[in-house]
Amino acid sequence: MIVPSILSADFTRLGAEVLAAERAGADWIHVDVMDGHFVPNLTMGPMTVAAVRRVTDLPIDAHLMIDNPDQFIRDFAAAGATHISVHAETVTHLNRSLQLVRSCGAHPGIALGPSTPLSIMEWSLDFADFVLLVAVNPGFGGQELQRAVLDKIRALRAELTRRGRSIIIESDGGINERTIGDFAAAGVDAFVIGSALFEAGDYPATVARLRGEVELGRKGAAAQ
Ligand code: DX5
Ligand code: ZN
Repeated sequence: MIVPSILSADFTRLGAEVLAAERAGADWIHVDVMDGHFVPNLTMGPMTVAAVRRVTDLPIDAHLMIDNPDQFIRDFAAAGATHISVHAETVTHLNRSLQLVRSCGAHPGIALGPSTPLSIMEWSLDFADFVLLVAVNPGFGGQELQRAVLDKIRALRAELTRRGRSIIIESDGGINERTIGDFAAAGVDAFVIGSALFEAGDYPATVARLRGEVELGRKGAAAQ
């Protein structure tokens, strides 16, 4: 799945950018919610999700990089988010937060920053439909991926296979035409792409090339 992150979109014409991404073949739309506390940046809230919902029927994937996310989960679901990820580092009772997301009719996801070990979610995977492994220090687009996260993705994929669980592995940060093959080979299902898409001129051609690299990456991994 190709999941454009609107953090890198032209906000003077957000609706047109979302429609252009959808026409280019986007599967979900990623919304990076930042509070200036958990991460050193301040971005968007439920109002932006509601605006995106007015222009597209695509799934909306709200990535909550905020302290005290439980306070806002209902608002994001009511605004139209179909997928809501909560950072495990920001909550005391992760299972309660995931159950709250599901009780609001959205798919719960667990997000982890690059330095956070997989073990933090060992007893929470049963409550999640997807896991978002962030490959950069959360807070900004346009950063270089931290390659160690590829090993973390492989370890999660192996653990999910061992458990026989079909949880979606999503990753974001530093995914572009040069790196997406490595993410695919490591086991990622949903690829969040910000600057590499919205700073590219031709969205359909860029998405087509990205999908081509995903296939190559998966074929390469299968051949090993
Ligand atoms: C980073 C965000 C990512 C970011 C991706 O904290 O969670 O979603 O927007 O942007 P690129 O693809 O430019 O690294
Ligand atoms: Zn994100």
